[in-house]
Amino acid sequence: MTRRRILSIVFLSIVLIPITAILYHRFTAAISSLGKSSIVHMANPSSPPVIVVGAGLAGLSATYSALQAGAPAVRLLERAPKPGGNSIKASSGINGAPTRYQNAAKYGVDQSFWDDTVRSAGTRLRAESVTEAVRSHRQSLISTLTGHSAAAIDFLVDLGVDLSVVAQLGGHSKPRTHRGAGKTPPGAAIVTTLLNKLKEQHANRFELLTGAEVTKLLTEAERVTGVEYRTATTDTETNATTTTTHTLHGPVVFTTGGFGGDTHGLLAKYRPDLAGLPSTNDPRPGAHTLLSAVGARLVDMESVQVHPTGFVDPANPSARVKFLAAEMLRGEGAVLLYKGKRFVNELDTRERVSEAVMKLLSVEEGGLRQWDVQILLDPGATEAAAGHVGFYLWKGLLQKKKVKELDETTRQTLLEYAAAVRGEVKDPFGRVAFGHWRLGTEEGSGIDEDAEVCIGRVTPIVHFTMGGAVFNERAQVLASEIGEEAKPIQGLWAAGEITGGIHGDNRLGGSSLLECVVFGRIAGEQAAKAALEGKA
Ligand code: FAD
Ligand code: SIN
Repeated sequence: MTRRRILSIVFLSIVLIPITAILYHRFTAAISSLGKSSIVHMANPSSPPVIVVGAGLAGLSATYSALQAGAPAVRLLERAPKPGGNSIKASSGINGAPTRYQNAAKYGVDQSFWDDTVRSAGTRLRAESVTEAVRSHRQSLISTLTGHSAAAIDFLVDLGVDLSVVAQLGGHSKPRTHRGAGKTPPGAAIVTTLLNKLKEQHANRFELLTGAEVTKLLTEAERVTGVEYRTATTDTETNATTTTTHTLHGPVVFTTGGFGGDTHGLLAKYRPDLAGLPSTNDPRPGAHTLLSAVGARLVDMESVQVHPTGFVDPANPSARVKFLAAEMLRGEGAVLLYKGKRFVNELDTRERVSEAVMKLLSVEEGGLRQWDVQILLDPGATEAAAGHVGFYLWKGLLQKKKVKELDETTRQTLLEYAAAVRGEVKDPFGRVAFGHWRLGTEEGSGIDEDAEVCIGRVTPIVHFTMGGAVFNERAQVLASEIGEEAKPIQGLWAAGEITGGIHGDNRLGGSSLLECVVFGRIAGEQAAKAALEGKA
Protein backbone atom coordinates (compact mmCIF):
# COMPACT_ATOMS: atom_id res chain seq x y z
CA MET A 1 0.00 0.00 0.00
CA THR A 2 1.42 3.38 -0.94
CA ARG A 3 1.99 6.06 1.68
CA ARG A 4 -0.52 8.24 -0.21
CA ARG A 5 -3.21 5.50 0.01
CA ILE A 6 -2.60 4.96 3.75
CA LEU A 7 -2.97 8.70 4.35
CA SER A 8 -6.29 8.80 2.48
CA ILE A 9 -7.67 5.87 4.52
CA VAL A 10 -6.60 7.61 7.75
CA PHE A 11 -8.22 10.86 6.55
CA LEU A 12 -11.42 9.02 5.66
CA SER A 13 -11.74 7.15 8.94
CA ILE A 14 -10.58 9.90 11.30
CA VAL A 15 -12.03 12.99 9.68
CA LEU A 16 -14.62 12.40 6.97
CA ILE A 17 -16.61 9.49 8.39
CA PRO A 18 -17.25 11.11 11.82
CA ILE A 19 -18.17 14.43 10.21
CA THR A 20 -20.54 12.69 7.83
CA ALA A 21 -22.03 10.76 10.73
CA ILE A 22 -22.54 13.93 12.75
CA LEU A 23 -24.12 15.71 9.79
CA TYR A 24 -26.31 12.70 9.03
CA HIS A 25 -27.39 12.54 12.67
CA ARG A 26 -28.25 16.24 12.76
CA PHE A 27 -30.05 15.95 9.44
CA THR A 28 -32.22 13.01 10.56
CA ALA A 29 -32.85 14.72 13.91
CA ALA A 30 -33.98 17.86 12.09
CA ILE A 31 -36.22 15.88 9.77
CA SER A 32 -37.77 13.79 12.53
CA SER A 33 -38.43 16.89 14.63
CA LEU A 34 -40.45 18.20 11.69
CA GLY A 35 -42.93 15.35 12.11
CA LYS A 36 -44.91 14.79 8.90
CA SER A 37 -42.94 17.49 7.12
CA SER A 38 -43.30 18.09 3.43
CA ILE A 39 -40.20 20.28 3.38
CA VAL A 40 -37.54 19.05 0.98
CA HIS A 41 -34.99 21.87 0.71
CA MET A 42 -32.93 20.95 3.74
CA ALA A 43 -29.64 20.74 1.85
CA ASN A 44 -27.65 22.12 4.74
CA PRO A 45 -28.82 20.40 7.90
CA SER A 46 -27.29 23.12 10.05
CA SER A 47 -29.76 25.66 8.59
CA PRO A 48 -32.93 25.38 10.66
CA PRO A 49 -36.37 26.37 9.36
CA VAL A 50 -37.88 29.72 10.27
CA ILE A 51 -40.78 29.12 12.65
CA VAL A 52 -43.75 31.47 12.33
CA VAL A 53 -46.38 31.30 15.08
CA GLY A 54 -49.88 32.40 14.00
CA ALA A 55 -51.29 32.41 10.46
CA GLY A 56 -52.98 35.82 10.29
CA LEU A 57 -51.72 38.56 7.98
CA ALA A 58 -48.58 39.27 10.04
CA GLY A 59 -47.64 35.58 9.99
CA LEU A 60 -48.34 35.19 6.28
CA SER A 61 -46.35 38.33 5.43
CA ALA A 62 -43.42 37.10 7.53
CA THR A 63 -43.59 33.68 5.91
CA TYR A 64 -43.60 35.13 2.42
CA SER A 65 -40.68 37.45 3.04
CA ALA A 66 -38.64 34.77 4.84
CA LEU A 67 -39.00 32.53 1.80
CA GLN A 68 -38.18 35.41 -0.56
CA ALA A 69 -35.06 36.06 1.51
CA GLY A 70 -33.93 32.46 0.98
CA ALA A 71 -34.96 30.77 4.24
CA PRO A 72 -34.28 27.03 3.87
CA ALA A 73 -37.88 26.38 4.96
CA VAL A 74 -40.72 28.00 6.88
CA ARG A 75 -42.97 26.14 9.29
CA LEU A 76 -46.14 28.16 9.97
CA LEU A 77 -47.90 26.92 13.12
CA GLU A 78 -51.53 27.88 13.64
CA ARG A 79 -53.67 27.01 16.66
CA ALA A 80 -57.04 27.32 14.87
CA PRO A 81 -58.35 24.74 12.39
CA LYS A 82 -58.00 27.34 9.61
CA PRO A 83 -55.54 30.14 8.84
CA GLY A 84 -56.60 33.81 8.65
CA GLY A 85 -57.12 34.92 12.29
CA ASN A 86 -58.84 38.28 12.68
CA SER A 87 -57.05 39.44 9.54
CA ILE A 88 -59.44 37.60 7.26
CA LYS A 89 -62.36 39.61 8.73
CA ALA A 90 -60.88 43.02 7.92
CA SER A 91 -63.48 45.13 6.21
CA SER A 92 -62.34 48.68 5.49
CA GLY A 93 -58.86 48.27 4.03
CA ILE A 94 -55.17 49.00 4.38
CA ASN A 95 -53.48 52.37 4.62
CA GLY A 96 -50.76 53.55 2.31
CA ALA A 97 -49.38 56.95 1.32
CA PRO A 98 -48.50 58.28 -1.12
CA THR A 99 -49.82 55.70 -3.62
CA ARG A 100 -50.83 55.68 -7.26
CA TYR A 101 -54.47 55.07 -6.23
CA GLN A 102 -54.83 58.24 -4.19
CA ASN A 103 -56.32 61.21 -5.99
CA ALA A 104 -53.37 63.60 -5.79
CA ALA A 105 -55.01 66.01 -8.24
CA LYS A 106 -57.93 66.49 -5.83
CA TYR A 107 -56.26 66.15 -2.41
CA GLY A 108 -52.60 66.94 -3.09
CA VAL A 109 -49.72 64.49 -2.56
CA ASP A 110 -50.32 62.76 0.77
CA GLN A 111 -47.56 63.67 3.17
CA SER A 112 -49.55 63.76 6.39
CA PHE A 113 -49.81 60.07 7.34
CA TRP A 114 -46.99 60.32 9.90
CA ASP A 115 -48.50 63.44 11.49
CA ASP A 116 -51.98 61.89 11.65
CA THR A 117 -50.58 58.76 13.31
CA VAL A 118 -48.61 60.76 15.88
CA ARG A 119 -51.70 62.88 16.65
CA SER A 120 -53.87 59.78 17.01
CA ALA A 121 -51.37 58.15 19.43
CA GLY A 122 -52.34 60.90 21.89
CA THR A 123 -51.02 61.10 25.42
CA ARG A 124 -48.91 57.93 25.19
CA LEU A 125 -46.68 59.85 22.82
CA ARG A 126 -47.31 63.51 23.48
CA ALA A 127 -47.98 63.96 27.21
CA GLU A 128 -45.45 66.16 29.01
CA SER A 129 -44.47 63.25 31.23
CA VAL A 130 -43.29 61.20 28.20
CA THR A 131 -39.48 61.12 28.13
CA GLU A 132 -37.50 61.95 25.01
CA ALA A 133 -36.32 58.33 24.75
CA VAL A 134 -39.87 56.94 24.84
CA ARG A 135 -41.08 59.53 22.35
CA SER A 136 -38.24 58.76 20.00
CA HIS A 137 -38.85 54.98 20.21
CA ARG A 138 -42.55 55.41 19.41
CA GLN A 139 -41.85 57.88 16.63
CA SER A 140 -39.33 55.57 15.02
CA LEU A 141 -41.94 52.77 14.90
CA ILE A 142 -44.41 55.20 13.33
CA SER A 143 -41.77 56.28 10.79
CA THR A 144 -41.21 52.65 9.79
CA LEU A 145 -44.96 52.04 9.56
CA THR A 146 -45.84 55.07 7.48
CA GLY A 147 -42.57 55.23 5.53
CA HIS A 148 -43.00 51.63 4.29
CA SER A 149 -46.74 51.98 3.63
CA ALA A 150 -46.58 52.73 -0.10
CA ALA A 151 -44.22 49.78 -0.59
CA ALA A 152 -46.64 47.55 1.36
CA ILE A 153 -49.46 48.49 -1.02
CA ASP A 154 -47.20 47.84 -4.04
CA PHE A 155 -46.17 44.49 -2.59
CA LEU A 156 -49.79 43.36 -2.28
CA VAL A 157 -50.85 44.78 -5.63
CA ASP A 158 -47.91 43.03 -7.33
CA LEU A 159 -49.13 39.75 -5.81
CA GLY A 160 -52.49 40.39 -7.49
CA VAL A 161 -54.61 42.03 -4.75
CA ASP A 162 -56.98 44.74 -6.02
CA LEU A 163 -56.52 47.85 -3.82
CA SER A 164 -57.70 50.43 -6.29
CA VAL A 165 -60.46 52.06 -4.20
CA VAL A 166 -59.46 54.58 -1.54
CA ALA A 167 -61.59 55.91 1.34
CA GLN A 168 -60.98 58.34 4.18
CA LEU A 169 -61.44 56.86 7.65
CA GLY A 170 -61.71 58.57 11.05
CA GLY A 171 -58.72 60.58 12.26
CA HIS A 172 -57.12 60.67 8.79
CA SER A 173 -56.68 64.01 7.08
CA LYS A 174 -56.80 62.45 3.59
CA PRO A 175 -58.30 59.38 1.91
CA ARG A 176 -55.62 56.66 2.21
CA THR A 177 -57.38 53.40 3.15
CA HIS A 178 -57.22 51.01 0.18
CA ARG A 179 -59.64 48.23 -0.72
CA GLY A 180 -60.74 46.42 -3.87
CA ALA A 181 -63.52 47.42 -6.25
CA GLY A 182 -65.27 44.03 -6.08
CA LYS A 183 -67.31 42.31 -3.41
CA THR A 184 -64.49 40.53 -1.57
CA PRO A 185 -63.60 42.48 1.60
CA PRO A 186 -59.93 43.51 1.84
CA GLY A 187 -58.90 41.15 4.67
CA ALA A 188 -60.17 38.07 2.84
CA ALA A 189 -58.71 39.24 -0.48
CA ILE A 190 -55.24 39.81 1.00
CA VAL A 191 -55.10 36.66 3.15
CA THR A 192 -56.30 34.31 0.39
CA THR A 193 -53.97 35.83 -2.20
CA LEU A 194 -50.95 35.45 0.09
CA LEU A 195 -51.87 31.86 0.98
CA ASN A 196 -52.32 30.96 -2.68
CA LYS A 197 -49.01 32.56 -3.64
CA LEU A 198 -47.21 30.69 -0.86
CA LYS A 199 -48.63 27.41 -2.12
CA GLU A 200 -47.94 28.22 -5.80
CA GLN A 201 -44.46 29.71 -5.47
CA HIS A 202 -42.96 28.02 -2.44
CA ALA A 203 -44.74 24.68 -1.98
CA ASN A 204 -41.44 22.83 -1.48
CA ARG A 205 -40.18 25.06 1.34
CA PHE A 206 -43.40 26.05 3.09
CA GLU A 207 -45.57 24.06 5.42
CA LEU A 208 -48.69 25.29 7.23
CA LEU A 209 -49.68 23.20 10.20
CA THR A 210 -53.15 24.02 11.57
CA GLY A 211 -54.44 22.75 14.90
CA ALA A 212 -50.92 23.33 16.26
CA GLU A 213 -50.84 25.44 19.43
CA VAL A 214 -47.50 26.82 20.51
CA THR A 215 -47.28 26.45 24.28
CA LYS A 216 -43.71 27.51 25.01
CA LEU A 217 -40.70 29.29 23.55
CA LEU A 218 -37.49 27.28 23.98
CA THR A 219 -34.36 29.08 25.10
CA GLU A 220 -30.67 28.42 25.47
CA ALA A 221 -28.36 30.97 27.06
CA GLU A 222 -31.02 33.72 26.78
CA ARG A 223 -31.52 33.03 23.07
CA VAL A 224 -34.83 31.74 21.68
CA THR A 225 -34.01 28.50 19.91
CA GLY A 226 -37.44 27.19 18.94
CA VAL A 227 -40.89 26.31 20.18
CA GLU A 228 -42.85 23.60 21.89
CA TYR A 229 -46.26 23.01 20.37
CA ARG A 230 -49.06 20.53 20.75
CA THR A 231 -51.43 18.86 18.34
CA ALA A 232 -54.47 16.76 19.07
CA THR A 233 -55.83 13.75 17.21
CA THR A 234 -59.18 12.12 17.79
CA ASP A 235 -59.70 8.39 17.31
CA THR A 236 -62.75 8.09 15.06
CA GLU A 237 -63.81 4.80 16.65
CA THR A 238 -63.45 5.60 20.37
CA ASN A 239 -63.73 9.38 20.06
CA ALA A 240 -60.78 9.63 22.48
CA THR A 241 -58.48 12.61 21.94
CA THR A 242 -54.72 12.24 22.22
CA THR A 243 -52.55 15.30 22.64
CA THR A 244 -48.98 15.15 21.42
CA THR A 245 -46.25 17.61 22.34
CA HIS A 246 -43.57 18.39 19.75
CA THR A 247 -40.47 20.54 19.69
CA LEU A 248 -39.12 22.42 16.72
CA HIS A 249 -35.86 24.37 16.49
CA GLY A 250 -35.23 27.54 14.52
CA PRO A 251 -35.53 31.33 14.70
CA VAL A 252 -39.04 32.34 15.73
CA VAL A 253 -41.39 35.02 14.38
CA PHE A 254 -44.28 35.56 16.80
CA THR A 255 -47.50 36.75 15.15
CA THR A 256 -50.32 35.56 17.39
CA GLY A 257 -52.54 38.66 17.27
CA GLY A 258 -54.20 40.66 20.06
CA PHE A 259 -56.28 39.87 23.14
CA GLY A 260 -59.61 41.53 22.23
CA GLY A 261 -61.19 38.06 22.21
CA ASP A 262 -59.67 37.04 25.55
CA THR A 263 -62.72 38.35 27.42
CA HIS A 264 -62.19 36.62 30.75
CA GLY A 265 -58.38 36.54 30.62
CA LEU A 266 -56.14 39.43 29.54
CA LEU A 267 -59.02 41.76 28.69
CA ALA A 268 -60.57 41.34 32.14
CA LYS A 269 -57.13 41.81 33.71
CA TYR A 270 -56.21 45.03 31.92
CA ARG A 271 -59.65 46.55 31.24
CA PRO A 272 -62.23 45.23 33.69
CA ASP A 273 -64.34 48.31 32.94
CA LEU A 274 -65.05 46.93 29.44
CA ALA A 275 -66.89 43.89 30.84
CA GLY A 276 -70.25 43.45 29.15
CA LEU A 277 -69.31 45.07 25.83
CA PRO A 278 -69.74 42.90 22.75
CA SER A 279 -66.71 42.14 20.54
CA THR A 280 -65.69 41.87 16.88
CA ASN A 281 -63.08 39.27 17.88
CA ASP A 282 -63.91 35.60 18.17
CA PRO A 283 -63.20 34.27 21.68
CA ARG A 284 -59.57 33.15 22.01
CA PRO A 285 -56.83 33.48 24.62
CA GLY A 286 -53.98 35.94 24.10
CA ALA A 287 -50.49 34.42 23.76
CA HIS A 288 -48.68 37.32 25.43
CA THR A 289 -47.58 35.35 28.48
CA LEU A 290 -45.49 33.06 26.25
CA LEU A 291 -43.43 36.12 25.35
CA SER A 292 -43.25 37.42 28.94
CA ALA A 293 -41.94 34.01 29.99
CA VAL A 294 -38.77 34.59 27.93
CA GLY A 295 -38.26 38.14 29.23
CA ALA A 296 -40.27 40.21 26.71
CA ARG A 297 -41.74 43.42 28.13
CA LEU A 298 -45.32 44.44 27.46
CA VAL A 299 -46.46 48.01 26.93
CA ASP A 300 -49.77 49.95 26.61
CA MET A 301 -51.79 46.91 27.67
CA GLU A 302 -54.60 49.16 28.98
CA SER A 303 -55.05 50.77 25.53
CA VAL A 304 -57.92 48.77 24.12
CA GLN A 305 -59.79 50.08 21.12
CA VAL A 306 -63.56 50.24 21.33
CA HIS A 307 -64.92 50.58 17.80
CA PRO A 308 -68.05 52.74 17.74
CA THR A 309 -70.07 50.72 15.25
CA GLY A 310 -70.76 47.03 15.72
CA PHE A 311 -74.05 46.00 14.12
CA VAL A 312 -76.84 45.00 16.47
CA ASP A 313 -78.62 42.24 14.56
CA PRO A 314 -82.39 42.68 15.07
CA ALA A 315 -82.71 38.88 14.89
CA ASN A 316 -80.15 38.36 17.69
CA PRO A 317 -79.54 41.65 19.52
CA SER A 318 -77.64 40.07 22.40
CA ALA A 319 -75.04 38.20 20.29
CA ARG A 320 -71.64 38.71 22.00
CA VAL A 321 -69.61 38.54 18.77
CA LYS A 322 -70.99 40.95 16.22
CA PHE A 323 -70.43 41.96 12.61
CA LEU A 324 -68.65 45.24 12.23
CA ALA A 325 -70.31 48.16 10.46
CA ALA A 326 -67.08 48.97 8.61
CA GLU A 327 -65.74 52.45 9.25
CA MET A 328 -65.53 52.80 5.51
CA LEU A 329 -69.35 53.27 5.51
CA ARG A 330 -68.86 56.52 7.42
CA GLY A 331 -65.90 57.30 5.21
CA GLU A 332 -68.15 57.05 2.17
CA GLY A 333 -70.58 59.50 3.81
CA ALA A 334 -72.78 57.68 6.38
CA VAL A 335 -74.00 59.53 9.47
CA LEU A 336 -74.65 58.38 13.05
CA LEU A 337 -77.94 59.31 14.69
CA TYR A 338 -79.31 59.17 18.21
CA LYS A 339 -83.07 59.72 18.39
CA GLY A 340 -82.88 61.09 14.85
CA LYS A 341 -80.11 63.63 15.54
CA ARG A 342 -76.40 63.66 14.77
CA PHE A 343 -74.18 64.03 17.84
CA VAL A 344 -70.56 63.66 16.69
CA ASN A 345 -68.13 64.18 13.80
CA GLU A 346 -68.42 60.65 12.40
CA LEU A 347 -64.87 60.90 11.05
CA ASP A 348 -63.20 61.83 14.31
CA THR A 349 -60.85 59.17 15.76
CA ARG A 350 -62.51 55.95 16.94
CA GLU A 351 -61.59 56.78 20.48
CA ARG A 352 -63.55 60.03 20.37
CA VAL A 353 -66.53 58.71 18.38
CA SER A 354 -66.90 55.78 20.80
CA GLU A 355 -66.61 58.18 23.74
CA ALA A 356 -69.41 60.31 22.30
CA VAL A 357 -71.68 57.26 21.86
CA MET A 358 -70.92 55.94 25.34
CA LYS A 359 -71.97 59.25 26.92
CA LEU A 360 -75.49 58.48 25.67
CA LEU A 361 -77.89 56.29 27.59
CA SER A 362 -76.97 52.59 27.42
CA VAL A 363 -79.36 49.65 27.50
CA GLU A 364 -78.82 46.23 29.06
CA GLU A 365 -79.57 43.42 26.63
CA GLY A 366 -78.97 39.75 27.47
CA GLY A 367 -76.13 40.61 29.84
CA LEU A 368 -74.52 43.06 27.38
CA ARG A 369 -74.11 46.84 27.64
CA GLN A 370 -75.32 48.31 24.34
CA TRP A 371 -76.42 51.58 22.82
CA ASP A 372 -79.22 52.43 20.44
CA VAL A 373 -77.53 54.43 17.70
CA GLN A 374 -78.45 54.36 14.01
CA ILE A 375 -76.11 54.40 11.03
CA LEU A 376 -77.70 55.88 7.92
CA LEU A 377 -76.40 55.83 4.33
CA ASP A 378 -77.84 57.90 1.50
CA PRO A 379 -77.89 56.58 -2.11
CA GLY A 380 -74.39 58.05 -2.77
CA ALA A 381 -72.76 56.31 0.21
CA THR A 382 -74.76 53.13 -0.53
CA GLU A 383 -73.47 53.04 -4.10
CA ALA A 384 -69.85 53.71 -3.07
CA ALA A 385 -69.98 50.89 -0.50
CA ALA A 386 -72.16 48.60 -2.65
CA GLY A 387 -70.23 45.37 -2.02
CA HIS A 388 -70.41 45.74 1.76
CA VAL A 389 -73.98 47.12 1.82
CA GLY A 390 -75.26 44.17 -0.24
CA PHE A 391 -73.87 41.79 2.38
CA TYR A 392 -75.25 43.77 5.34
CA LEU A 393 -78.72 43.97 3.71
CA TRP A 394 -78.65 40.24 3.03
CA LYS A 395 -77.73 39.58 6.67
CA GLY A 396 -80.60 41.83 7.83
CA LEU A 397 -78.16 44.25 9.53
CA LEU A 398 -79.24 47.17 7.32
CA GLN A 399 -82.74 47.87 6.09
CA LYS A 400 -83.86 49.99 3.12
CA LYS A 401 -86.31 52.83 3.73
CA LYS A 402 -87.62 55.69 1.66
CA VAL A 403 -86.92 59.17 3.02
CA LYS A 404 -90.67 59.74 3.40
CA GLU A 405 -90.85 56.76 5.80
CA LEU A 406 -88.37 58.36 8.22
CA ASP A 407 -89.54 60.33 11.26
CA GLU A 408 -89.63 64.13 11.12
CA THR A 409 -86.51 64.64 13.31
CA THR A 410 -84.40 62.41 11.06
CA ARG A 411 -85.63 64.15 7.89
CA GLN A 412 -84.73 67.53 9.39
CA THR A 413 -81.25 66.17 10.30
CA LEU A 414 -80.73 65.05 6.70
CA LEU A 415 -81.63 68.52 5.43
CA GLU A 416 -79.09 70.11 7.79
CA TYR A 417 -76.36 67.59 6.89
CA ALA A 418 -76.96 68.19 3.16
CA ALA A 419 -76.41 71.91 3.74
CA ALA A 420 -73.02 71.13 5.32
CA VAL A 421 -72.10 68.78 2.48
CA ARG A 422 -72.99 71.53 -0.01
CA GLY A 423 -70.63 73.79 1.91
CA GLU A 424 -73.35 76.33 2.74
CA VAL A 425 -72.91 75.96 6.48
CA LYS A 426 -70.07 74.71 8.64
CA ASP A 427 -70.78 71.27 10.02
CA PRO A 428 -71.67 71.83 13.71
CA PHE A 429 -69.53 68.80 14.68
CA GLY A 430 -66.55 69.80 12.58
CA ARG A 431 -66.87 67.15 9.87
CA VAL A 432 -65.05 68.24 6.71
CA ALA A 433 -65.06 65.10 4.53
CA PHE A 434 -68.39 63.72 3.35
CA GLY A 435 -67.38 60.84 1.08
CA HIS A 436 -69.93 60.23 -1.68
CA TRP A 437 -73.00 61.62 0.13
CA ARG A 438 -75.29 63.26 -2.44
CA LEU A 439 -78.81 63.28 -0.94
CA GLY A 440 -80.03 66.86 -1.01
CA THR A 441 -76.87 68.21 -2.58
CA GLU A 442 -78.25 69.02 -6.04
CA GLU A 443 -78.97 72.72 -6.15
CA GLY A 444 -82.51 73.58 -5.14
CA SER A 445 -83.58 69.93 -5.03
CA GLY A 446 -84.32 69.69 -1.28
CA ILE A 447 -84.46 66.07 -0.18
CA ASP A 448 -85.96 63.58 -2.60
CA GLU A 449 -88.75 61.96 -0.57
CA ASP A 450 -88.63 58.82 -2.71
CA ALA A 451 -84.87 58.34 -2.37
CA GLU A 452 -83.88 55.14 -0.62
CA VAL A 453 -81.56 55.18 2.38
CA CYS A 454 -80.07 52.23 4.30
CA ILE A 455 -80.37 52.24 8.05
CA GLY A 456 -79.25 49.89 10.85
CA ARG A 457 -78.55 49.85 14.59
CA VAL A 458 -74.97 50.03 15.86
CA THR A 459 -73.25 49.90 19.24
CA PRO A 460 -69.68 50.27 20.59
CA ILE A 461 -67.72 47.05 20.51
CA VAL A 462 -64.31 45.78 21.72
CA HIS A 463 -62.20 45.61 18.57
CA PHE A 464 -58.41 45.88 18.86
CA THR A 465 -55.62 45.91 21.43
CA MET A 466 -52.98 48.60 20.96
CA GLY A 467 -50.72 47.11 23.65
CA GLY A 468 -48.35 44.18 23.32
CA ALA A 469 -44.70 43.21 23.21
CA VAL A 470 -42.14 46.02 23.17
CA PHE A 471 -40.28 45.74 19.87
CA ASN A 472 -38.10 47.87 17.62
CA GLU A 473 -38.13 48.95 13.99
CA ARG A 474 -36.24 45.76 13.07
CA ALA A 475 -39.16 43.78 14.58
CA GLN A 476 -36.93 42.38 17.35
CA VAL A 477 -38.75 41.66 20.61
CA LEU A 478 -37.13 43.54 23.48
CA ALA A 479 -36.40 42.50 27.03
CA SER A 480 -36.23 46.19 27.97
CA GLU A 481 -38.96 48.73 28.70
CA ILE A 482 -39.85 51.15 25.94
CA GLY A 483 -37.31 53.99 25.98
CA GLU A 484 -34.66 52.03 27.92
CA GLU A 485 -31.47 50.92 26.22
CA ALA A 486 -32.76 48.25 23.81
CA LYS A 487 -32.09 44.63 24.77
CA PRO A 488 -33.25 42.51 21.82
CA ILE A 489 -34.07 38.90 22.65
CA GLN A 490 -31.91 36.96 20.20
CA GLY A 491 -33.75 34.56 17.90
CA LEU A 492 -37.15 36.22 18.39
CA TRP A 493 -39.10 38.68 16.22
CA ALA A 494 -42.74 39.80 16.31
CA ALA A 495 -45.26 41.63 14.14
CA GLY A 496 -48.94 42.53 14.00
CA GLU A 497 -51.38 43.01 16.85
CA ILE A 498 -49.19 41.12 19.36
CA THR A 499 -46.77 44.07 19.37
CA GLY A 500 -47.17 47.34 21.26
CA GLY A 501 -45.91 50.90 21.09
CA ILE A 502 -46.93 52.02 17.61
CA HIS A 503 -50.50 53.21 18.07
CA GLY A 504 -50.48 54.60 21.61
CA ASP A 505 -53.96 55.62 22.77
CA ASN A 506 -55.71 55.01 19.45
CA ARG A 507 -55.03 53.04 16.28
CA LEU A 508 -56.11 54.65 13.03
CA GLY A 509 -58.46 52.52 10.92
CA GLY A 510 -56.52 50.66 8.22
CA SER A 511 -53.21 50.74 10.10
CA SER A 512 -53.40 47.23 11.54
CA LEU A 513 -53.33 45.41 8.22
CA LEU A 514 -50.51 47.80 7.38
CA GLU A 515 -48.45 46.98 10.47
CA CYS A 516 -48.91 43.27 9.73
CA VAL A 517 -47.45 43.67 6.25
CA VAL A 518 -44.69 46.17 7.10
CA PHE A 519 -43.34 44.55 10.28
CA GLY A 520 -44.23 41.02 9.15
CA ARG A 521 -42.01 41.44 6.10
CA ILE A 522 -39.16 42.89 8.18
CA ALA A 523 -39.44 40.09 10.76
CA GLY A 524 -39.50 37.37 8.10
CA GLU A 525 -36.43 38.73 6.38
CA GLN A 526 -34.46 39.04 9.64
CA ALA A 527 -35.40 35.53 10.75
CA ALA A 528 -34.40 34.12 7.33
CA LYS A 529 -30.96 35.71 7.71
CA ALA A 530 -30.57 34.09 11.12
CA ALA A 531 -31.63 30.71 9.72
CA LEU A 532 -29.15 30.98 6.87
CA GLU A 533 -26.41 31.78 9.35
CA GLY A 534 -27.39 28.52 11.08
CA LYS A 535 -28.57 30.27 14.24
CA ALA A 536 -30.95 28.58 16.68
P1 FAD B 1 -54.51 37.60 13.55
O1 FAD B 1 -54.95 37.87 12.17
O2 FAD B 1 -55.56 37.62 14.59
O3 FAD B 1 -53.76 36.20 13.53
C1 FAD B 1 -53.18 35.65 14.68
C2 FAD B 1 -53.23 34.12 14.54
O4 FAD B 1 -52.42 33.54 15.56
C3 FAD B 1 -54.63 33.56 14.74
O5 FAD B 1 -54.97 32.80 13.61
C4 FAD B 1 -54.53 32.73 16.01
O6 FAD B 1 -55.35 31.57 16.00
C5 FAD B 1 -53.05 32.35 16.02
N1 FAD B 1 -52.54 32.02 17.36
C6 FAD B 1 -52.75 32.69 18.51
N2 FAD B 1 -52.08 32.09 19.52
C7 FAD B 1 -51.45 31.02 18.99
C8 FAD B 1 -50.60 30.00 19.54
N3 FAD B 1 -50.28 29.98 20.83
N4 FAD B 1 -50.12 29.04 18.70
C9 FAD B 1 -50.43 29.06 17.37
N5 FAD B 1 -51.23 30.00 16.81
C10 FAD B 1 -51.73 30.96 17.60
N6 FAD B 1 -57.52 46.36 10.44
C11 FAD B 1 -57.24 47.13 9.38
O7 FAD B 1 -56.12 47.63 9.24
N7 FAD B 1 -58.19 47.36 8.43
C12 FAD B 1 -59.43 46.84 8.51
O8 FAD B 1 -60.25 47.04 7.62
C13 FAD B 1 -59.76 46.04 9.63
N8 FAD B 1 -61.00 45.51 9.79
C14 FAD B 1 -61.24 44.66 10.82
C15 FAD B 1 -62.49 44.06 10.93
C16 FAD B 1 -62.75 43.14 11.94
C17 FAD B 1 -64.10 42.49 12.05
C18 FAD B 1 -61.72 42.82 12.87
C19 FAD B 1 -61.96 41.84 13.98
C20 FAD B 1 -60.49 43.44 12.79
C21 FAD B 1 -60.24 44.36 11.77
N9 FAD B 1 -59.01 44.99 11.65
C22 FAD B 1 -58.74 45.79 10.58
C23 FAD B 1 -57.93 44.68 12.58
C24 FAD B 1 -57.01 43.66 11.93
O9 FAD B 1 -57.75 42.79 11.13
C25 FAD B 1 -56.24 42.86 12.95
O10 FAD B 1 -55.78 43.65 13.98
C26 FAD B 1 -55.02 42.26 12.29
O11 FAD B 1 -55.41 41.61 11.13
C27 FAD B 1 -54.31 41.32 13.22
O12 FAD B 1 -53.46 40.51 12.45
P2 FAD B 1 -52.43 39.54 13.14
O13 FAD B 1 -51.79 38.77 12.06
O14 FAD B 1 -51.60 40.28 14.10
O15 FAD B 1 -53.37 38.58 14.02
C1 SIN C 1 -63.43 48.80 10.08
O1 SIN C 1 -63.70 48.30 9.00
O2 SIN C 1 -64.13 49.66 10.61
C2 SIN C 1 -62.24 48.32 10.80
C3 SIN C 1 -61.04 48.97 10.27
C4 SIN C 1 -59.88 48.79 11.21
O3 SIN C 1 -60.02 48.24 12.28
O4 SIN C 1 -58.79 49.25 10.84
